[in-house]
Amino acid sequence: MAREPATWCFRDESAARILVVDDSPSLLSLMVEALHGLPGVDIDTCLDSRIVEEMCRKTQYDTLVIDYLMPGIDGISVIRLLRAQEAYRTVPIVMVTSKLEREVRVEALSAGATDFLTKPFDRLELQARVANLLSLRRAQVRLTCWADELNGTVKRAVQTVARREEEMIWRLARAMEMRDDDTGHHISRVAEISRTLARGLGHDEHWCHMVYLAAPLHDVGKIGVTDSILRKPGRLDDDELVEMRRHVEHGNRILQGGSSELLQVAANIARHHHEKWDGSGYPDGLVGEAIPLEARIVAVADVFDALCSRRPYKPAWPRETAVAEILRGAGRHFDPACVEAFIRLLPDIEEIMTRLSDEPTAAPPAAEPPAIEPATIVSIATEAEREPAAVVFALGRRASR
Ligand SMILES: [Fe+2]
Repeated sequence: MAREPATWCFRDESAARILVVDDSPSLLSLMVEALHGLPGVDIDTCLDSRIVEEMCRKTQYDTLVIDYLMPGIDGISVIRLLRAQEAYRTVPIVMVTSKLEREVRVEALSAGATDFLTKPFDRLELQARVANLLSLRRAQVRLTCWADELNGTVKRAVQTVARREEEMIWRLARAMEMRDDDTGHHISRVAEISRTLARGLGHDEHWCHMVYLAAPLHDVGKIGVTDSILRKPGRLDDDELVEMRRHVEHGNRILQGGSSELLQVAANIARHHHEKWDGSGYPDGLVGEAIPLEARIVAVADVFDALCSRRPYKPAWPRETAVAEILRGAGRHFDPACVEAFIRLLPDIEEIMTRLSDEPTAAPPAAEPPAIEPATIVSIATEAEREPAAVVFALGRRASR
């Protein structure tokens, strides 16, 4: 096994490791004696070319001196085997040969030999060649170490930027949530449910994470809606309703044109999370798959959480009733594929709803929707005009009565 990078990065203060391979004990001894004249080297020897590959798997050498003609496996074949190992792709190898034929040299070079030495070898020439190759190796190792360090630095910097971007998104979403008088973990639940649905639809983790980060900004455009409308306790008139619905365009304007893929996904969600599969949504009345998938996903998550959440003007729906409502919206309000994933992943979604519950005690919901007081119906109707999520809620309520 090759040494770990931290240890095989031999530096000035650590010895270079050399492996000398020759089937002749006397020649091997002469070469080792010559190489011992080099400062700072540890030398291993091998008489059997068949075990060189295994030795090199266990130890990372910095330079090899290999005889050409050996019983078993010749030197060129040994070089080919070593070059197939990742750790030996660039390690200098000297081929020792008494043959000066052009064909042998070309074949050895093609196999990956770095340099040649002819027999009978000259002691000083051997030292000089190996010393040069060790300098080359040292430069290679330093370059590799610097590249590793640089990669690590860049990776850490990218992670820092990503964390900051993520943090800014959440803070912006929280700021908008406070202005909307919305409380609790609504945006966290919508983000997690959206990511769960994206995964369930088979998308890669990078895209699923982007949906997770972009989903909390779906209503950021409400920052452009006046308080008198956003916080109006009573029914919105037609003009106010038009103004309220403009939050999708405000959100898109805030987020569009960004250089990052994340901002582009967030802009799509902000603009299209109130579109409906059958084309009856807004602002563009898009139909079916013309609606960006990320917006179709968030629509399901947003509506489900709105139905399950308690508000001052309405109780929380029991989850099974809210689930039935989502199912009822398949092919009308929602992408049927998103609803299919939602139903399939209900255990995961239940876990998210429970873990991020706004309720101080996780009391089980009532088996049936609680009775609605007339005053509450007025509140629901008002909210229904504010948000399609509440429209579904109100319609479901009426249908169940
Ligand atoms: Fe919205």
